[in-house]
Amino acid sequence: MDAPPNEPETPASGHVPVLPNEVLAWLDPGPGDIVLDCTLGRAGHAALIAPRLSPDGRYIGLDVDPANIAHARTVLKNAPVKIDLVKSNFAAARSVLDSLGIDRVDLVLADLGFASNQMSDPARGFSFMSDGPLDMRLDPELGVTAADLVAALSEADLADVIYRFGEERLSRKIARKIVEERERTPILTTTDLARVVREACGVRSGASGGRGAVGGGGWARRGASRLDPATKTFMALRIAVNEELGALERLLGALPALMAGGGRAAVISFHSLEDRRVKRAFADMEQSGAGKRLTRRPVTATENELRSNPRSRSAKLRVFEWA
Ligand SMILES: C[S@@+](CC[C@H](N)C(=O)[O-])C[C@H]1O[C@@H](n2cnc3c(N)ncnc32)[C@H](O)[C@@H]1O
Repeated sequence: MDAPPNEPETPASGHVPVLPNEVLAWLDPGPGDIVLDCTLGRAGHAALIAPRLSPDGRYIGLDVDPANIAHARTVLKNAPVKIDLVKSNFAAARSVLDSLGIDRVDLVLADLGFASNQMSDPARGFSFMSDGPLDMRLDPELGVTAADLVAALSEADLADVIYRFGEERLSRKIARKIVEERERTPILTTTDLARVVREACGVRSGASGGRGAVGGGGWARRGASRLDPATKTFMALRIAVNEELGALERLLGALPALMAGGGRAAVISFHSLEDRRVKRAFADMEQSGAGKRLTRRPVTATENELRSNPRSRSAKLRVFEWA
């Protein structure tokens, strides 16, 4: 490790990636390595890793969001190695590598979910913290938005999505309220949906108290938690719109056929639905003799990183090494 684990480096991208030193320490990129970054994002990790591959390594970055690919291209323009940035879902990693004439890679990184620029842009519709269209597509070419799902799913299917992907125990109440509301008027914005969910949970939008309120309002305490009642429903819809768990399963299933002997894959997840899948896939691969888990327990952020980068709070890193 080049820097002490409790002093995160500031990467050239200006974006602060999560668990930067831990990713470098566990992947240990070196000259000549071929790296597949499944979630290029703002090129925060890429800016740290790519220089280490010099002189003859190669960095392949994938992202479904063309805006992040374009940004990453500027961040990496002076990188001293061959860089290939491709707009693609990581579920299709094998065919991207085929199209680049690459059989196997040495290192894989997947830093799941969304980047902070996506969450903070009201026009993308991920956040109930600001008013925007209820979109939530990471890939703007996807045909179905969150507003489409909210308008078209049956009450039972809405409840199922909110329960399975949000682990929301009030899913049925919320689905019923959404259906009642959309019969009166379409739910088209983040603010509309957040209000409907809060009402379903018996909480008034705009009441005082509570963290992360829209427009400075808040809500009453819900159990021991001070999460906005809309949090889990928003997460569920985002996961559904982007088919996030299906894509992760496909990537995990494809890994053995991507990796060179001795190769390592690092996956950073941000919620238990993802982490459970990574944990199970790595345990199954170890069981089948493909290699070994380098991290028995997930690696999490240091106190220092938690203070400087709140997004690291729920980050869990797991690493697998092929035989
Ligand atoms: C957490 S960010 C990655 C941040 C990046 N590691 C950095 O340091 O800048 C996740 C990125 O992955 C992208 N993404 C999410 N799901 C994807 C998928 N299935 N295939 C490709 N990219 C995906 C998002 O668009 C987002 O840009």
